[in-house]
Amino acid sequence: MNGYSCLAAYYDRLMTDFGYDSYLGLLGRELEGREGVDLCCGSGRITIALALQGKKMTGVDMSGEMLSVAADNALKAGVKPLFVRADATAFRPQHEVDFVTCVCDGINYIRQKDLAVFFENAACSLKKGGKLIFDASSEYKLKKTIGNNVFFEDYDDLTYIWSNTPFAGGVKMDLTFFIRGRDGKYIKQTEEHTQYAHSESTIGKALGDRFSFRNFDFGTSGPVTAKTQRIVWVCEKL
Ligand SMILES: C[S@@+](CC[C@H](N)C(=O)[O-])C[C@H]1O[C@@H](n2cnc3c(N)ncnc32)[C@H](O)[C@@H]1O
Repeated sequence: MNGYSCLAAYYDRLMTDFGYDSYLGLLGRELEGREGVDLCCGSGRITIALALQGKKMTGVDMSGEMLSVAADNALKAGVKPLFVRADATAFRPQHEVDFVTCVCDGINYIRQKDLAVFFENAACSLKKGGKLIFDASSEYKLKKTIGNNVFFEDYDDLTYIWSNTPFAGGVKMDLTFFIRGRDGKYIKQTEEHTQYAHSESTIGKALGDRFSFRNFDFGTSGPVTAKTQRIVWVCEKL
């Protein structure tokens, strides 16, 4: 199965260690204006949180399963962002917006050859002075922390195994789920993800002269170091 099909139903439950609150603090400090696009929005955590702050949001994702979870989450939260199933590499809204976000590895799903067009479309989506904020798992994280390792979580109703195989440009991730059915029997499902490792200079070059930008370590808020796990980029359309 392709990525984010089976995982979609368990994504929010398994994403307990990502710092959404701290990310929202950053967005609160950086973002201006009312209208935004959240690329690779997944289950809509950021899209919905910004919609709850009164922003007019569009969430874009390629996975129908993730968008279905996002739509349910939005309904429960009492907000109505627009969700669009589209490839974030090619997406442009119908008119320019105030900000674009792409949170938690979205950029690691974009192949290196597609980065420039991704940023070009993000730039075309923005008003002059509008901000693009995204993050990327660092090369160090993908190669050393995730690398050849296997991670798992084991619950009564779900066992989840995440097995990683590095290659020159990133990591292939094999996910296996054992899901307990109503009859108590477990069903096995698998899906595969590929994340691409982009160096700071690759991202900087792909951003080109469309943006001014700065970046920092998401964990420390300080400068990026050789062991930074997640790099946040704050870019302003020129
Ligand atoms: C790790 S999840 C992040 C979801 C969400 N932004 C969050 O912070 O929880 C990555 C998401 O990117 C989506 N995705 C990957 N490649 C994409 C692409 N080319 N276009 C649109 N969505 C994509 C996946 O379907 C998945 O929902």
